[in-house]
Amino acid sequence: MAFTLPDLPYAHDALAPKGMSAETLEYHHDLHHNAYVTNGNKAIEGTEWEGKSLEDIIKGTYDPSAVAQNGIFNNISQLWNHNQFWEMMTPNDSKMPSELESALNVSFGSVDKFKEAFAAAGAGQFGSGWAWLVRDTDGSLKVTKTENGVNPICFGQTTLLGCDVWEHSYYIDYRNKRPAYLTNFLDNLVNWENVASRM
Ligand code: FE2
Repeated sequence: MAFTLPDLPYAHDALAPKGMSAETLEYHHDLHHNAYVTNGNKAIEGTEWEGKSLEDIIKGTYDPSAVAQNGIFNNISQLWNHNQFWEMMTPNDSKMPSELESALNVSFGSVDKFKEAFAAAGAGQFGSGWAWLVRDTDGSLKVTKTENGVNPICFGQTTLLGCDVWEHSYYIDYRNKRPAYLTNFLDNLVNWENVASRM
């Protein structure tokens, strides 16, 4: 059974009042995400990975010693990353659940300090990649950044929040201002209930 492109959980123009335009979602979801689905399906066809879950393929094909990851990993991990990304944003007002707020206070000192660390990770990722909030294997919450399609699954971590910092995610709305895109993501777009549900 081939992988399919999931529908956005909201209309293409639903995030526009909060700083992510319909044009960005038309390109990012309908074209870029769809390409990962198409190319991922093509890459696993006839291999041992056909019929396996996204998570199993990501774990099984990630090579920590490689300078560049292989085509199966790149497309399948990006497919999974984008599946999560749309769910991590909401057009509605999102109040941070108290258990998440407490956990961020414990790990980072305050919610603002967490946001600073997350935005700095995203802004500091050289080239394409992602910024993440993860629950690490020791149970602690951490902010990380990864290159290209690499994600927390590769390190046995639980993904709580991710922000795509590939240029295709922000160039239409923010041009070269990646920090402004990250600040807007954290202040206006994140679905904190979704983040808390992943804990
Ligand atoms: Fe993307």
